[in-house]
Amino acid sequence: MKKILFAASECVPFIKTGGLADVVGSLPKCFDKKKYDVRVIIPKYMCMDEKWKSQMKYVNHFYMDLCWRRQYVGILEMEYEGVKFYFIDNEYYFAGPSPYSDVRYDLEKFAFFSRAVLSALPVIDFRPDIIHCHDYHTGLIPVYLKDSFSVGDFYKGVKSIMTIHNLKFQGVWDIDTIKDIAGLSDYYFTSDKLKDYDTGNYLKGGIVYADMVTTVSSTYAEEIKTPFYGEGLDGLMRARSNCLRGIVNGIDYDEYNPETDKLIAKNFSKDNFRKEKVKNKTALQKELGLEVNPKKMMIGLVSRLTDQKGLDLIAYVMDEMCQDAVQFVILGTGEERYENMFRHFDWKYGKDVSANIYYSEELSHKIYAACDAFIMPSLFEPCGLSQLMSMRYGTLPIVRETGGLKDTVQPYNEYENTGTGFSFSNYNAHEMMGTLRYAEHIFYDKKRDWNKMVERAMAVDYSWKTSAEKYQQLYDELIG
Ligand code: ADP
Ligand code: GLC
Repeated sequence: MKKILFAASECVPFIKTGGLADVVGSLPKCFDKKKYDVRVIIPKYMCMDEKWKSQMKYVNHFYMDLCWRRQYVGILEMEYEGVKFYFIDNEYYFAGPSPYSDVRYDLEKFAFFSRAVLSALPVIDFRPDIIHCHDYHTGLIPVYLKDSFSVGDFYKGVKSIMTIHNLKFQGVWDIDTIKDIAGLSDYYFTSDKLKDYDTGNYLKGGIVYADMVTTVSSTYAEEIKTPFYGEGLDGLMRARSNCLRGIVNGIDYDEYNPETDKLIAKNFSKDNFRKEKVKNKTALQKELGLEVNPKKMMIGLVSRLTDQKGLDLIAYVMDEMCQDAVQFVILGTGEERYENMFRHFDWKYGKDVSANIYYSEELSHKIYAACDAFIMPSLFEPCGLSQLMSMRYGTLPIVRETGGLKDTVQPYNEYENTGTGFSFSNYNAHEMMGTLRYAEHIFYDKKRDWNKMVERAMAVDYSWKTSAEKYQQLYDELIG
């Protein structure tokens, strides 16, 4: 039995701020259970729902030295849908209303978490063959494995994988502070290790020290070797390109299933969507106070409201787009200027625009089910899950051709009648609007072609099956 430990900062259903949580929560379920014992370890945040906290069982605790600090490490566990989850408890570090706060504080929190994960392994009697680390929060684990945890039999030969879900977030601060909070010596702060210009960089450490590096789509794996997408680490990505692989994400096919989803108004399948899907649209129109009109094209957006998601393109032409016969339903939180921009258009075009500036699992499912199209004009997108969820519900994505969006959405070709959505290439508001208007034309004037495309989008398999096999291959290569 091969033993793998996922280490991450978030994971569904316990805590989620974005797609990272979806991946860490859904992928471990999909490995071949006869060959791989995959477990997951995350922090136990005080802001987790009581429903989950009350089910966690205390395992053990100890005190851990980290530089001059001595900290409590509690370990809890819980089995959920056949996977074993561990939670690291420390009420000083994992307090607060959300998993993340300011960077300096997060850096200390995740240095603690990374060291606690490694220190906890003998206590839970689980010696993984591979620790699979996700994003900068766990970037120090590969470093510690080669540092203070390289001595003694227990950790000898434990391999690590660093998966990059978003290169934008690297965990960067001045070197002296990082040395202090991470407990690492001068040796680690040269340009070939954690030093990045005159700062210390967690993700860089993870990428340098991990045995393998992966990211969440093939296109993003190529893009990050270039200065535009490389976020200052493109040189390192090129240097490590032999060990860099792109494996596209999947989604949880049980949770996102239009035939059984309990959160939506009317279940439907690819055989009956022509009649049934629209009932979700009219239900949502009623719920959100939009004009109730089954024929009007409804466009959805469910997203963190940040620059990454291409929202400045939308801001630029939103007024113009609102002149068309379309409705927009937005769900998201993030930068204030985008929140206010959508609130403004909701106020201005109340019967056709609904801005929901909060987080809601339930409304997100309703939007995926109800809309005709889904807009995602990202500046960069390592993979993107929302477009996959949309397609599963027969909602056609309109995307920019970058990262995982390029790899997962096949653009409509009206001559060959192929495609599962619409796409445009340049980061340009009018190019996006042109594509949106083309989609409107197909929706209103070529309904049969539109519906064929819906059928195709719903038939594509974006479950974890193929990608989980690719991770298994990677584990096999590393373990030998
Ligand atoms: P990212 O990880 O960059 O935020 P992804 O497309 O990979 O983007 O994943 C986003 C996930 O977060 C999806 O599951 C999406 O439905 C969810 N999501 C984003 N914003 C909200 C929100 N306000 N309410 C509910 N779900 C949201
Ligand atoms: C990141 C990326 C997103 C990806 C997700 C899960 O948050 O922004 O594109 O889908 O991680 O891998």
